Amino acid sequence: MYNSKIAGLGAYVPENIVTNDDLAKRMDTNDAWIQERTGIKERRHIEKGDGNSTATMGAKAAKIALERAKIDAADIDLIVFATLSPDYYFPGCGVQVQELLDMPTVPALDVRNQCTGFIYALSTADQFIKTGMYKNVLVIGSENHSGGLDFTTRGRNVSVIFGDGAGAAVLTREEDNSKGILSTHLHSEGKHALELALRGPSTMEWVPEIMEKDPQEDIPYYPYMNGQFVFKNAVQRFAEVVNEGLEKNGLTAKDIDMLIPHQANLRISQFVQKQFKLSDDQIYNNIERYGNTTAASIPIALTEAWEKGKIKEGDNLILAAFGSGFTWGSAVIKW
Ligand code: UT7
Repeated sequence: MYNSKIAGLGAYVPENIVTNDDLAKRMDTNDAWIQERTGIKERRHIEKGDGNSTATMGAKAAKIALERAKIDAADIDLIVFATLSPDYYFPGCGVQVQELLDMPTVPALDVRNQCTGFIYALSTADQFIKTGMYKNVLVIGSENHSGGLDFTTRGRNVSVIFGDGAGAAVLTREEDNSKGILSTHLHSEGKHALELALRGPSTMEWVPEIMEKDPQEDIPYYPYMNGQFVFKNAVQRFAEVVNEGLEKNGLTAKDIDMLIPHQANLRISQFVQKQFKLSDDQIYNNIERYGNTTAASIPIALTEAWEKGKIKEGDNLILAAFGSGFTWGSAVIKW
């Protein structure tokens, strides 16, 4: 059995910055409400014609990660792509990256675990490397939220939160089992599937049926979120799954050098920080600049933290996420 380690990280966000005041011109909201409830000041949105999509942003982040890892795209054995906002209903974005990066005919796997997508993708990649089946795996999280949000007042509790962007990690074999990804922990609870969901168009609610619905009554083609219920579950599950990772590795909260939580809401991160009594140096947040980028939030934050020199060799790094499904998970990494 091998371990896997992160050999390179990359992130890409569209240039177009959308502030809270910009959103207030489109719907009944305001900067004070958004900042107070979520910590978000601005987010990035793809603009028509800027060449960005979920797949192309993912490929841009991947290119940076590959360069930093000093691993050629031709040496990647598997692509794992996490997103809830793929370019097409099918095929998934993984195969698009294979083409965009001109890679050999490697397998491409798409993961659909929303805000926990990057942790599920990382864990999947880790298993392939652990067993020795693959040596180098490209893991991507990317989202184009702005293409599918309701920017009228009706959708304000969801649309002010989410932003576009991508992050990527190149995983490679680590022969020293005390280093790299030490463990991953994954969970789901499908009874809450519709508390945070985009129901259609889908095989259950196809376009003609949706068109017959009264947009004032039911709008399955925009995301629905039961915000307070999601919030309560998130704080509980974040804490549980971080503890699970610590216990599995004989660590305590004091041993955490850096916690990178999925950037769902600054209030959730602060709750987790308080629960584990972490100093501001032991947690990294950037939601104020990007909003919630779902599967991309952890790899973007991880890339930034690494670029700023906040993650050093030998550090105990914890990644944790909670989101639609419900799904939640964590990863414990010795850097
Ligand atoms: O990453 C996936 C996981 N997602 C999450 O973890 C999100 C978890 N939930 C949350 O972050 C919070 O629930 C929200 C930020 C979504 C909402 O905050 P809240 O404190 O739970 O507010 P609320 O939904 O209870 O709404 C409070 C009030 C309502 O008005 P009334 O009924 O009190 O008059 C809303 O209509 O705020 C109103 N409101 C807004 N006002 C201005 C909702 N959205 C907005 C808005 N601007 N954008």
